[in-house]
Amino acid sequence: MPSVKLAPSLLSADFADIAGQIKMVEAAGANALHLDSMDGRFVPNFTWGPKIVADLRKLTTLPFDCHLMIVEPEKYVDAFREAGADIITFHYEATPHAHRLLQHLRKIGARAGIGINPQTPTAMLVDLIEECDQILVMSVNPGFGGQAFIERALVKLREVRALVAARNPDCDIEVDGGIGTTNIERAVEAGATMLIAGSSVFGAADPPAAMREMRRRIDSVVK
Ligand code: DX5
Ligand code: ZN
Repeated sequence: MPSVKLAPSLLSADFADIAGQIKMVEAAGANALHLDSMDGRFVPNFTWGPKIVADLRKLTTLPFDCHLMIVEPEKYVDAFREAGADIITFHYEATPHAHRLLQHLRKIGARAGIGINPQTPTAMLVDLIEECDQILVMSVNPGFGGQAFIERALVKLREVRALVAARNPDCDIEVDGGIGTTNIERAVEAGATMLIAGSSVFGAADPPAAMREMRRRIDSVVK
């Protein structure tokens, strides 16, 4: 596994041919698959729950990076873990008990991730950082693919990198939203170690070529 990972987001994939889409990105060098669960409450959109994750689990051995954009995530994390989630990321804004939930995620054998919306300062992670295996910096407002990258996320990635370097160097730093060839190097230079790409992969004319180009750009700036 490379130190900086590229994970396509299935949100922008064609679910009428999901097996083919997964095979395609796996062959093109995806390091994980990013699965966005949305409940129509935390975000104004719906996607899928544990049943679909369990079905997709049969199609690949790639790690599943499950991004829960749902309220009361503590009620559902066990079901996502049982469905085959390897990394489970919930939102800081979605629960009053983030610390407890991070500890629980590790207890059930998942990598424990927490995400912050564009409105949330990185300072909110200060008392949680040792409990995290992954921090997700949202670079769009969650809910939809294909939105413009919010440049302020680069400042937040640098802040998270400083926190991680000082207190939890094995923690991955994920950036999600609007990532593509125009900003991927800058995101890596700012500290991202896991790049999520939805529309820039599945919306490309040639998705494998788009992934190879993103990988080339990542490798050009990884020290
Ligand atoms: C948005 C999701 C993202 C989404 C990113 O709420 O969390 O994972 O798929 O899509 P793009 O890469 O198109 O911005
Ligand atoms: Zn996501």
